Amino acid sequence: MDVFKGLKVMKSTNSIEKLIINNLINMKTNRIINTIGILILIVTLSSCDKDDSGDIVPIPPGSGDLNLPPLNPQLVAEGKDIFRYDTFGDETFWTDVLQMNQVIETAVSPATALAVGLKVDASALPDAVVEAIQNGEVDLNDPQTTLVLLQLNAVVGVQGEVSQNTDGTLKLDRMGITCALCHSTVDNSFAPGIGSRLDGWPNRDLNPGLIISLSPALDQATKDVYASWGPGIYDPRFNHDGLNNPVVIPPAYGLYGLPKAIFTGDGDVEHEPAGPVAYWNRYVAVTQMHGHGYFADERLDNWIVDYREGDDLVTDKLPALQAYQFSISAPTPPAGSFDATAAARGKALFSGKGQCATCHSGPLFTDVIDGGKLHPQSASVAVDKDYVKRSATKQWRVTPLKGIWQHPPYFHDGSATTLADVVTRYNQMNNLGLSNTEKSDLTEYLKSL
Ligand code: HEC
Ligand code: HEC
Repeated sequence: MDVFKGLKVMKSTNSIEKLIINNLINMKTNRIINTIGILILIVTLSSCDKDDSGDIVPIPPGSGDLNLPPLNPQLVAEGKDIFRYDTFGDETFWTDVLQMNQVIETAVSPATALAVGLKVDASALPDAVVEAIQNGEVDLNDPQTTLVLLQLNAVVGVQGEVSQNTDGTLKLDRMGITCALCHSTVDNSFAPGIGSRLDGWPNRDLNPGLIISLSPALDQATKDVYASWGPGIYDPRFNHDGLNNPVVIPPAYGLYGLPKAIFTGDGDVEHEPAGPVAYWNRYVAVTQMHGHGYFADERLDNWIVDYREGDDLVTDKLPALQAYQFSISAPTPPAGSFDATAAARGKALFSGKGQCATCHSGPLFTDVIDGGKLHPQSASVAVDKDYVKRSATKQWRVTPLKGIWQHPPYFHDGSATTLADVVTRYNQMNNLGLSNTEKSDLTEYLKSL
Protein backbone atom coordinates (compact mmCIF):
# COMPACT_ATOMS: atom_id res chain seq x y z
CA MET A 1 0.00 0.00 0.00
CA ASP A 2 1.75 3.08 -1.27
CA VAL A 3 -0.02 5.31 1.18
CA PHE A 4 2.10 3.93 4.02
CA LYS A 5 5.44 4.25 2.27
CA GLY A 6 7.16 7.30 3.64
CA LEU A 7 3.82 8.72 4.64
CA LYS A 8 4.12 12.39 5.48
CA VAL A 9 1.71 15.07 6.37
CA MET A 10 1.10 16.93 3.15
CA LYS A 11 -1.70 18.72 1.46
CA SER A 12 -2.47 16.07 -1.12
CA THR A 13 -0.69 13.22 -2.75
CA ASN A 14 -0.66 11.27 -5.95
CA SER A 15 0.21 8.13 -4.02
CA ILE A 16 -3.31 8.04 -2.67
CA GLU A 17 -4.71 7.87 -6.17
CA LYS A 18 -2.17 5.14 -6.91
CA LEU A 19 -3.33 3.29 -3.82
CA ILE A 20 -6.92 3.34 -4.94
CA ILE A 21 -6.01 2.16 -8.40
CA ASN A 22 -3.78 -0.59 -6.99
CA ASN A 23 -6.60 -1.61 -4.70
CA LEU A 24 -8.94 -1.83 -7.63
CA ILE A 25 -6.49 -3.94 -9.60
CA ASN A 26 -5.87 -6.23 -6.64
CA MET A 27 -9.48 -6.48 -5.72
CA LYS A 28 -10.95 -9.94 -6.00
CA THR A 29 -13.86 -10.14 -8.40
CA ASN A 30 -16.14 -11.07 -5.52
CA ARG A 31 -15.20 -7.85 -3.79
CA ILE A 32 -16.21 -5.52 -6.55
CA ILE A 33 -17.03 -2.26 -4.96
CA ASN A 34 -19.54 0.31 -5.93
CA THR A 35 -18.23 1.84 -9.14
CA ILE A 36 -20.11 5.06 -8.64
CA GLY A 37 -18.50 5.47 -5.22
CA ILE A 38 -15.07 5.07 -6.77
CA LEU A 39 -15.83 7.56 -9.49
CA ILE A 40 -16.96 10.11 -6.94
CA LEU A 41 -13.81 9.37 -4.95
CA ILE A 42 -11.51 9.89 -7.93
CA VAL A 43 -13.29 13.11 -8.85
CA THR A 44 -12.97 14.33 -5.26
CA LEU A 45 -9.28 13.49 -5.14
CA SER A 46 -8.56 15.12 -8.47
CA SER A 47 -10.16 18.31 -7.26
CA CYS A 48 -7.81 18.45 -4.26
CA ASP A 49 -4.98 20.94 -4.26
CA LYS A 50 -1.84 19.36 -5.63
CA ASP A 51 1.34 19.74 -3.63
CA ASP A 52 3.73 17.07 -4.70
CA SER A 53 6.79 18.53 -3.06
CA GLY A 54 6.36 15.95 -0.25
CA ASP A 55 7.80 18.41 2.26
CA ILE A 56 6.89 17.78 5.85
CA VAL A 57 4.79 20.62 7.12
CA PRO A 58 5.78 21.28 10.73
CA ILE A 59 2.53 20.95 12.62
CA PRO A 60 1.67 20.84 16.29
CA PRO A 61 0.44 17.59 17.89
CA GLY A 62 -3.18 16.77 17.24
CA SER A 63 -3.53 18.94 14.17
CA GLY A 64 -2.92 18.40 10.48
CA ASP A 65 -4.64 16.19 7.98
CA LEU A 66 -3.29 12.98 6.55
CA ASN A 67 -5.65 13.08 3.57
CA LEU A 68 -6.28 9.38 3.81
CA PRO A 69 -8.55 7.84 1.17
CA PRO A 70 -12.00 6.77 2.33
CA LEU A 71 -12.23 3.08 3.14
CA ASN A 72 -14.26 0.74 0.98
CA PRO A 73 -17.43 0.08 3.02
CA GLN A 74 -17.88 -3.43 1.68
CA LEU A 75 -14.33 -4.37 2.62
CA VAL A 76 -14.86 -2.84 6.07
CA ALA A 77 -18.05 -4.89 6.56
CA GLU A 78 -16.27 -8.09 5.55
CA GLY A 79 -13.43 -7.25 7.91
CA LYS A 80 -15.84 -6.75 10.79
CA ASP A 81 -17.13 -10.30 10.42
CA ILE A 82 -13.60 -11.65 10.19
CA PHE A 83 -12.49 -9.66 13.25
CA ARG A 84 -15.43 -10.89 15.33
CA TYR A 85 -16.07 -14.42 14.14
CA ASP A 86 -13.21 -15.85 12.08
CA THR A 87 -10.95 -18.44 13.70
CA PHE A 88 -8.84 -19.00 10.57
CA GLY A 89 -9.25 -22.72 11.33
CA ASP A 90 -7.43 -22.40 14.67
CA GLU A 91 -9.69 -25.09 16.18
CA THR A 92 -6.93 -27.49 15.14
CA PHE A 93 -4.87 -25.91 17.94
CA TRP A 94 -7.37 -24.80 20.59
CA THR A 95 -9.37 -28.03 20.34
CA ASP A 96 -7.11 -30.74 18.95
CA VAL A 97 -3.92 -29.70 20.75
CA LEU A 98 -4.88 -27.63 23.82
CA GLN A 99 -8.23 -29.45 24.36
CA MET A 100 -9.80 -26.23 25.57
CA ASN A 101 -13.21 -27.54 24.53
CA GLN A 102 -12.97 -30.09 27.34
CA VAL A 103 -11.78 -27.48 29.83
CA ILE A 104 -14.75 -25.23 29.01
CA GLU A 105 -17.25 -28.08 28.96
CA THR A 106 -16.26 -29.40 32.37
CA ALA A 107 -15.06 -26.36 34.31
CA VAL A 108 -16.00 -22.99 32.84
CA SER A 109 -19.32 -21.67 34.10
CA PRO A 110 -20.45 -18.22 32.96
CA ALA A 111 -19.39 -16.90 36.38
CA THR A 112 -15.89 -18.32 35.84
CA ALA A 113 -15.79 -17.06 32.26
CA LEU A 114 -16.69 -13.53 33.37
CA ALA A 115 -14.15 -13.75 36.19
CA VAL A 116 -11.31 -14.42 33.71
CA GLY A 117 -12.48 -11.45 31.65
CA LEU A 118 -14.49 -13.11 28.89
CA LYS A 119 -17.32 -10.89 27.64
CA VAL A 120 -20.87 -11.67 26.54
CA ASP A 121 -22.48 -9.95 23.55
CA ALA A 122 -25.96 -9.05 24.83
CA SER A 123 -27.29 -8.48 21.31
CA ALA A 124 -26.81 -12.19 20.57
CA LEU A 125 -29.13 -13.16 23.44
CA PRO A 126 -32.78 -13.85 22.52
CA ASP A 127 -35.38 -12.01 24.63
CA ALA A 128 -36.35 -15.19 26.44
CA VAL A 129 -32.78 -15.72 27.61
CA VAL A 130 -32.45 -12.07 28.67
CA GLU A 131 -35.64 -12.38 30.69
CA ALA A 132 -34.55 -15.64 32.25
CA ILE A 133 -31.23 -14.07 33.32
CA GLN A 134 -33.07 -11.04 34.73
CA ASN A 135 -35.44 -13.30 36.68
CA GLY A 136 -32.50 -15.22 38.12
CA GLU A 137 -33.64 -18.40 36.38
CA VAL A 138 -30.31 -19.05 34.67
CA ASP A 139 -27.64 -20.92 36.56
CA LEU A 140 -24.53 -18.85 36.02
CA ASN A 141 -22.47 -21.44 37.90
CA ASP A 142 -23.16 -24.27 35.46
CA PRO A 143 -20.76 -24.88 32.53
CA GLN A 144 -23.82 -26.07 30.55
CA THR A 145 -24.99 -22.44 30.51
CA THR A 146 -21.66 -21.45 28.94
CA LEU A 147 -22.33 -23.97 26.17
CA VAL A 148 -25.75 -22.39 25.58
CA LEU A 149 -24.05 -18.99 25.27
CA LEU A 150 -21.55 -20.46 22.80
CA GLN A 151 -24.38 -22.03 20.83
CA LEU A 152 -25.93 -18.54 20.61
CA ASN A 153 -22.56 -17.17 19.43
CA ALA A 154 -22.68 -14.76 22.37
CA VAL A 155 -19.20 -15.19 23.86
CA VAL A 156 -16.97 -12.44 22.45
CA GLY A 157 -13.94 -13.87 20.65
CA VAL A 158 -14.84 -17.53 21.15
CA GLN A 159 -16.42 -19.73 18.48
CA GLY A 160 -17.85 -23.08 19.55
CA GLU A 161 -19.55 -26.02 17.90
CA VAL A 162 -22.03 -27.42 20.38
CA SER A 163 -24.00 -30.69 20.11
CA GLN A 164 -26.15 -32.86 22.36
CA ASN A 165 -25.25 -35.99 24.29
CA THR A 166 -27.78 -38.83 24.27
CA ASP A 167 -28.93 -37.77 27.75
CA GLY A 168 -29.82 -34.32 26.41
CA THR A 169 -26.88 -32.47 27.98
CA LEU A 170 -24.71 -30.29 25.76
CA LYS A 171 -21.13 -30.94 24.71
CA LEU A 172 -18.55 -28.68 23.10
CA ASP A 173 -17.19 -30.51 20.06
CA ARG A 174 -14.84 -27.84 18.82
CA MET A 175 -13.77 -24.36 19.79
CA GLY A 176 -11.47 -21.69 18.43
CA ILE A 177 -10.67 -18.04 19.10
CA THR A 178 -10.97 -14.83 17.08
CA CYS A 179 -9.29 -11.41 17.16
CA ALA A 180 -12.19 -10.06 19.23
CA LEU A 181 -11.05 -12.15 22.20
CA CYS A 182 -8.26 -9.71 23.03
CA HIS A 183 -9.29 -6.60 21.08
CA SER A 184 -12.99 -6.20 21.90
CA THR A 185 -14.86 -5.60 25.09
CA VAL A 186 -18.48 -4.73 25.92
CA ASP A 187 -20.12 -1.65 27.42
CA ASN A 188 -21.57 -3.51 30.45
CA SER A 189 -25.00 -2.15 29.55
CA PHE A 190 -26.78 -5.33 30.63
CA ALA A 191 -24.57 -6.40 33.53
CA PRO A 192 -20.85 -6.37 34.29
CA GLY A 193 -19.19 -8.19 31.38
CA ILE A 194 -22.44 -8.36 29.38
CA GLY A 195 -23.42 -5.67 26.88
CA SER A 196 -22.86 -4.28 23.39
CA ARG A 197 -19.56 -4.96 21.65
CA LEU A 198 -16.87 -2.30 21.60
CA ASP A 199 -14.56 -3.53 18.85
CA GLY A 200 -10.98 -2.33 18.90
CA TRP A 201 -11.09 -1.63 22.64
CA PRO A 202 -8.45 -3.79 24.28
CA ASN A 203 -9.90 -6.29 26.73
CA ARG A 204 -7.82 -5.37 29.75
CA ASP A 205 -9.93 -7.65 31.97
CA LEU A 206 -9.11 -10.73 29.95
CA ASN A 207 -6.54 -13.05 31.47
CA PRO A 208 -5.44 -14.95 28.36
CA GLY A 209 -2.46 -16.55 30.08
CA LEU A 210 -4.59 -17.96 32.88
CA ILE A 211 -7.07 -19.36 30.34
CA ILE A 212 -4.33 -21.06 28.31
CA SER A 213 -2.72 -22.40 31.50
CA LEU A 214 -5.85 -24.51 32.10
CA SER A 215 -5.00 -26.69 29.10
CA PRO A 216 -4.21 -30.28 30.11
CA ALA A 217 -1.77 -30.47 27.19
CA LEU A 218 0.87 -28.20 28.78
CA ASP A 219 3.61 -29.18 31.21
CA GLN A 220 3.68 -27.51 34.61
CA ALA A 221 6.57 -25.15 33.84
CA THR A 222 4.77 -23.80 30.77
CA LYS A 223 1.48 -23.50 32.67
CA ASP A 224 3.29 -21.50 35.37
CA VAL A 225 4.58 -19.00 32.81
CA TYR A 226 1.14 -18.49 31.25
CA ALA A 227 -0.55 -18.19 34.64
CA SER A 228 1.92 -15.50 35.75
CA TRP A 229 0.89 -12.81 33.25
CA GLY A 230 -2.36 -11.46 34.68
CA PRO A 231 -5.29 -9.55 33.17
CA GLY A 232 -4.85 -7.49 30.01
CA ILE A 233 -1.41 -8.90 29.42
CA TYR A 234 -0.05 -11.30 26.81
CA ASP A 235 3.34 -12.30 25.45
CA PRO A 236 3.11 -12.75 21.67
CA ARG A 237 6.76 -13.83 21.46
CA PHE A 238 6.97 -16.42 24.25
CA ASN A 239 6.32 -19.36 21.94
CA HIS A 240 9.09 -18.15 19.63
CA ASP A 241 12.02 -17.10 21.80
CA GLY A 242 11.00 -18.78 25.07
CA LEU A 243 11.49 -15.52 27.00
CA ASN A 244 8.79 -14.48 29.45
CA ASN A 245 8.28 -10.73 29.14
CA PRO A 246 4.64 -9.96 28.31
CA VAL A 247 3.05 -6.69 27.19
CA VAL A 248 -0.34 -5.04 27.62
CA ILE A 249 -2.97 -5.75 24.96
CA PRO A 250 -3.11 -2.50 22.96
CA PRO A 251 -6.14 -0.97 21.24
CA ALA A 252 -6.89 -1.86 17.61
CA TYR A 253 -8.45 1.56 16.95
CA GLY A 254 -7.06 4.90 15.81
CA LEU A 255 -4.48 3.21 13.57
CA TYR A 256 -5.39 4.51 10.12
CA GLY A 257 -2.48 6.51 8.74
CA LEU A 258 0.30 4.94 10.81
CA PRO A 259 2.94 3.50 8.47
CA LYS A 260 4.16 1.08 11.15
CA ALA A 261 2.30 -1.24 13.50
CA ILE A 262 2.84 -2.42 17.09
CA PHE A 263 4.94 -0.99 19.91
CA THR A 264 8.13 -1.72 18.03
CA GLY A 265 6.98 -0.81 14.54
CA ASP A 266 7.62 -4.29 13.10
CA GLY A 267 4.68 -4.08 10.70
CA ASP A 268 5.15 -2.11 7.49
CA VAL A 269 4.51 -2.49 3.75
CA GLU A 270 8.08 -3.66 3.19
CA HIS A 271 7.28 -6.79 5.17
CA GLU A 272 3.60 -7.23 4.31
CA PRO A 273 2.28 -5.78 1.05
CA ALA A 274 -1.27 -5.74 2.44
CA GLY A 275 -0.18 -3.06 4.95
CA PRO A 276 1.41 -2.43 8.35
CA VAL A 277 -1.44 -3.71 10.51
CA ALA A 278 -1.91 -6.67 8.15
CA TYR A 279 1.71 -7.66 8.90
CA TRP A 280 0.89 -8.03 12.56
CA ASN A 281 -2.52 -9.57 11.93
CA ARG A 282 -0.79 -12.31 9.92
CA TYR A 283 1.76 -12.70 12.71
CA VAL A 284 -0.90 -13.19 15.38
CA ALA A 285 -3.39 -15.16 13.28
CA VAL A 286 -0.70 -17.69 12.36
CA THR A 287 1.90 -17.77 15.13
CA GLN A 288 -0.35 -17.13 18.14
CA MET A 289 -3.88 -18.16 17.23
CA HIS A 290 -2.49 -21.00 15.10
CA GLY A 291 -4.81 -20.25 12.21
CA HIS A 292 -4.15 -22.03 8.94
CA GLY A 293 -1.70 -19.69 7.27
CA TYR A 294 1.89 -18.75 6.71
CA PHE A 295 4.22 -16.28 8.42
CA ALA A 296 7.88 -15.60 7.78
CA ASP A 297 10.21 -12.79 8.77
CA GLU A 298 13.94 -12.95 8.25
CA ARG A 299 14.38 -10.25 10.92
CA LEU A 300 13.15 -12.68 13.60
CA ASP A 301 16.01 -15.18 13.22
CA ASN A 302 14.44 -16.27 9.94
CA TRP A 303 11.31 -17.46 11.69
CA ILE A 304 9.00 -19.41 9.40
CA VAL A 305 5.66 -20.74 10.59
CA ASP A 306 3.57 -22.73 8.15
CA TYR A 307 0.21 -24.03 9.39
CA ARG A 308 -1.48 -23.98 6.00
CA GLU A 309 -2.24 -27.67 5.95
CA GLY A 310 -2.99 -27.26 2.25
CA ASP A 311 -5.26 -24.36 2.98
CA ASP A 312 -4.38 -20.68 3.55
CA LEU A 313 -7.29 -19.25 5.55
CA VAL A 314 -5.44 -16.02 6.44
CA THR A 315 -3.83 -14.22 3.50
CA ASP A 316 -6.95 -13.35 1.48
CA LYS A 317 -8.64 -11.93 4.57
CA LEU A 318 -5.90 -9.49 5.52
CA PRO A 319 -7.03 -6.48 3.41
CA ALA A 320 -10.59 -6.63 4.76
CA LEU A 321 -9.45 -7.26 8.32
CA GLN A 322 -7.11 -4.28 8.16
CA ALA A 323 -9.77 -2.05 6.57
CA TYR A 324 -12.11 -2.80 9.48
CA GLN A 325 -9.50 -1.86 12.06
CA PHE A 326 -8.69 1.32 10.13
CA SER A 327 -12.39 2.19 10.21
CA ILE A 328 -12.46 2.25 14.01
CA SER A 329 -11.59 5.68 15.40
CA ALA A 330 -10.22 6.21 18.85
CA PRO A 331 -13.08 6.91 21.29
CA THR A 332 -13.59 10.48 22.45
CA PRO A 333 -13.39 11.14 26.19
CA PRO A 334 -16.71 11.00 28.08
CA ALA A 335 -18.28 14.38 28.84
CA GLY A 336 -17.04 15.82 32.10
CA SER A 337 -14.14 13.39 32.39
CA PHE A 338 -11.52 16.16 32.38
CA ASP A 339 -11.12 19.81 33.32
CA ALA A 340 -11.13 21.73 30.03
CA THR A 341 -9.44 24.85 31.39
CA ALA A 342 -6.61 22.87 32.94
CA ALA A 343 -6.35 20.79 29.74
CA ALA A 344 -5.87 23.96 27.67
CA ARG A 345 -2.94 24.92 29.90
CA GLY A 346 -1.67 21.33 29.65
CA LYS A 347 -1.72 21.55 25.86
CA ALA A 348 0.83 24.34 25.97
CA LEU A 349 2.99 22.28 28.34
CA PHE A 350 2.76 19.27 26.01
CA SER A 351 4.43 21.22 23.23
CA GLY A 352 6.53 23.43 25.51
CA LYS A 353 8.11 22.62 28.85
CA GLY A 354 7.08 18.94 28.78
CA GLN A 355 8.78 18.40 25.40
CA CYS A 356 6.23 15.71 24.59
CA ALA A 357 5.59 17.03 21.09
CA THR A 358 9.14 16.35 20.00
CA CYS A 359 8.03 12.72 19.65
CA HIS A 360 4.20 12.78 19.97
CA SER A 361 3.78 15.13 17.01
CA GLY A 362 1.31 15.58 14.16
CA PRO A 363 -2.32 14.56 13.80
CA LEU A 364 -1.90 11.14 15.43
CA PHE A 365 0.45 12.28 18.20
CA THR A 366 3.33 10.23 16.86
CA ASP A 367 6.29 11.02 14.65
CA VAL A 368 6.12 7.59 13.00
CA ILE A 369 4.14 9.28 10.23
CA ASP A 370 7.37 11.11 9.47
CA GLY A 371 8.64 8.51 7.01
CA GLY A 372 8.22 5.63 9.48
CA LYS A 373 10.55 7.09 12.11
CA LEU A 374 11.40 4.83 15.06
CA HIS A 375 13.38 5.51 18.25
CA PRO A 376 16.18 3.66 20.05
CA GLN A 377 15.70 1.48 23.14
CA SER A 378 16.45 4.43 25.45
CA ALA A 379 13.40 6.39 24.21
CA SER A 380 10.98 4.42 26.37
CA VAL A 381 10.55 5.47 30.00
CA ALA A 382 8.81 2.17 30.83
CA VAL A 383 10.25 0.04 33.62
CA ASP A 384 10.95 -2.91 31.30
CA LYS A 385 13.85 -2.27 28.98
CA ASP A 386 14.06 -5.66 27.29
CA TYR A 387 10.90 -6.29 25.24
CA VAL A 388 12.17 -4.15 22.39
CA LYS A 389 15.18 -6.43 21.90
CA ARG A 390 12.90 -9.33 20.99
CA SER A 391 11.27 -7.43 18.15
CA ALA A 392 12.15 -7.26 14.47
CA THR A 393 13.23 -3.61 14.59
CA LYS A 394 14.81 -3.49 18.09
CA GLN A 395 13.36 0.03 18.24
CA TRP A 396 10.27 1.82 19.56
CA ARG A 397 7.44 3.39 17.64
CA VAL A 398 6.15 6.47 19.46
CA THR A 399 2.70 5.37 20.64
CA PRO A 400 -0.26 7.32 19.20
CA LEU A 401 -2.19 8.98 22.03
CA LYS A 402 -5.77 9.50 20.79
CA GLY A 403 -8.24 7.75 23.10
CA ILE A 404 -5.48 7.27 25.68
CA TRP A 405 -8.00 7.92 28.51
CA GLN A 406 -9.65 4.61 27.63
CA HIS A 407 -6.93 2.06 28.22
CA PRO A 408 -4.91 2.21 31.42
CA PRO A 409 -2.37 0.94 32.43
CA TYR A 410 0.20 2.69 30.24
CA PHE A 411 3.43 1.88 28.41
CA HIS A 412 4.04 -1.51 26.80
CA ASP A 413 4.67 -3.11 30.19
CA GLY A 414 1.70 -1.44 31.89
CA SER A 415 4.10 0.13 34.38
CA ALA A 416 2.16 3.41 34.73
CA THR A 417 -1.23 2.85 36.35
CA THR A 418 -2.72 6.25 35.52
CA LEU A 419 -2.01 9.19 33.21
CA ALA A 420 -0.83 11.10 36.28
CA ASP A 421 1.76 8.33 36.76
CA VAL A 422 2.83 8.74 33.13
CA VAL A 423 3.45 12.45 33.67
CA THR A 424 5.30 11.86 36.94
CA ARG A 425 7.49 9.28 35.21
CA TYR A 426 8.42 11.63 32.35
CA ASN A 427 8.99 14.48 34.79
CA GLN A 428 11.51 12.38 36.73
CA MET A 429 13.23 10.58 33.85
CA ASN A 430 13.55 13.64 31.61
CA ASN A 431 14.20 16.17 34.43
CA LEU A 432 11.39 18.39 33.21
CA GLY A 433 11.05 20.31 36.47
CA LEU A 434 7.22 20.47 36.24
CA SER A 435 5.43 21.90 39.27
CA ASN A 436 2.51 20.00 40.79
CA THR A 437 0.04 22.30 39.01
CA GLU A 438 1.82 21.81 35.71
CA LYS A 439 1.82 18.05 36.18
CA SER A 440 -1.88 18.07 36.85
CA ASP A 441 -2.57 20.37 33.86
CA LEU A 442 -0.61 18.07 31.56
CA THR A 443 -2.52 15.09 32.93
CA GLU A 444 -5.86 16.80 32.20
CA TYR A 445 -4.69 17.42 28.64
CA LEU A 446 -3.81 13.73 28.17
CA LYS A 447 -7.29 12.82 29.44
CA SER A 448 -8.80 15.07 26.77
CA LEU A 449 -7.16 13.42 23.74
C1 HEC B 1 -4.19 -13.38 22.92
C2 HEC B 1 -4.48 -11.99 22.71
C3 HEC B 1 -4.44 -11.44 21.31
C4 HEC B 1 -5.13 -11.90 20.21
C5 HEC B 1 -6.03 -13.12 20.10
C6 HEC B 1 -4.86 -10.96 19.15
N1 HEC B 1 -4.03 -9.98 19.60
FE1 HEC B 1 -3.58 -8.27 18.64
N2 HEC B 1 -2.21 -7.82 20.05
C7 HEC B 1 -2.01 -8.51 21.22
C8 HEC B 1 -0.84 -7.98 21.88
C9 HEC B 1 -0.27 -8.43 23.21
C10 HEC B 1 -0.31 -6.96 21.05
C11 HEC B 1 0.94 -6.08 21.29
C12 HEC B 1 2.12 -6.65 20.54
C13 HEC B 1 3.31 -5.72 20.45
O1 HEC B 1 3.14 -4.51 20.27
O2 HEC B 1 4.45 -6.20 20.54
C14 HEC B 1 -1.23 -6.87 19.92
C15 HEC B 1 -1.13 -5.92 18.91
C16 HEC B 1 -2.11 -5.71 17.96
C17 HEC B 1 -2.19 -4.57 17.09
C18 HEC B 1 -1.22 -3.43 17.04
C19 HEC B 1 -1.80 -2.09 17.35
C20 HEC B 1 -0.80 -0.98 17.08
O3 HEC B 1 -0.70 -0.12 17.94
O4 HEC B 1 -0.14 -0.93 16.03
C21 HEC B 1 -3.30 -4.76 16.29
C22 HEC B 1 -3.84 -3.84 15.23
C23 HEC B 1 -3.85 -6.05 16.63
N3 HEC B 1 -3.12 -6.59 17.66
C24 HEC B 1 -4.91 -6.66 15.97
C25 HEC B 1 -5.23 -8.00 16.13
C26 HEC B 1 -6.02 -8.79 15.18
C27 HEC B 1 -6.66 -8.28 13.92
C28 HEC B 1 -6.09 -10.04 15.69
C29 HEC B 1 -6.69 -11.27 15.03
C30 HEC B 1 -5.99 -11.71 13.83
C31 HEC B 1 -5.38 -10.04 16.97
N4 HEC B 1 -4.84 -8.80 17.15
C32 HEC B 1 -5.35 -11.10 17.86
C33 HEC B 1 -2.84 -9.52 21.70
C34 HEC B 1 -3.73 -10.24 20.90
C1 HEC C 1 11.86 10.58 22.94
C2 HEC C 1 10.52 10.47 22.44
C3 HEC C 1 9.37 10.68 23.44
C4 HEC C 1 9.10 11.81 24.21
C5 HEC C 1 9.90 13.09 24.33
C6 HEC C 1 7.86 11.52 24.90
N1 HEC C 1 7.41 10.27 24.57
FE1 HEC C 1 5.72 9.42 25.23
N2 HEC C 1 6.24 7.67 24.34
C7 HEC C 1 7.36 7.48 23.56
C8 HEC C 1 7.53 6.08 23.28
C9 HEC C 1 8.64 5.44 22.48
C10 HEC C 1 6.46 5.43 23.92
C11 HEC C 1 6.22 3.92 24.01
C12 HEC C 1 7.03 3.44 25.22
C13 HEC C 1 6.62 2.10 25.79
O1 HEC C 1 5.46 1.67 25.65
O2 HEC C 1 7.48 1.49 26.46
C14 HEC C 1 5.67 6.46 24.58
C15 HEC C 1 4.52 6.22 25.31
C16 HEC C 1 3.75 7.20 25.90
C17 HEC C 1 2.49 6.97 26.55
C18 HEC C 1 1.81 5.61 26.76
C19 HEC C 1 0.92 5.24 25.64
C20 HEC C 1 0.21 3.93 25.86
O3 HEC C 1 -0.64 3.59 25.03
O4 HEC C 1 0.49 3.22 26.83
C21 HEC C 1 2.02 8.19 26.97
C22 HEC C 1 0.70 8.45 27.68
C23 HEC C 1 3.01 9.17 26.60
N3 HEC C 1 4.05 8.53 25.95
C24 HEC C 1 2.92 10.53 26.89
C25 HEC C 1 4.01 11.37 26.79
C26 HEC C 1 4.05 12.67 27.42
C27 HEC C 1 2.95 13.28 28.26
C28 HEC C 1 5.28 13.19 27.14
C29 HEC C 1 5.87 14.50 27.60
C30 HEC C 1 5.94 14.66 29.04
C31 HEC C 1 5.97 12.21 26.31
N4 HEC C 1 5.18 11.13 26.14
C32 HEC C 1 7.24 12.38 25.79
C33 HEC C 1 8.24 8.47 23.14
C34 HEC C 1 8.31 9.73 23.69
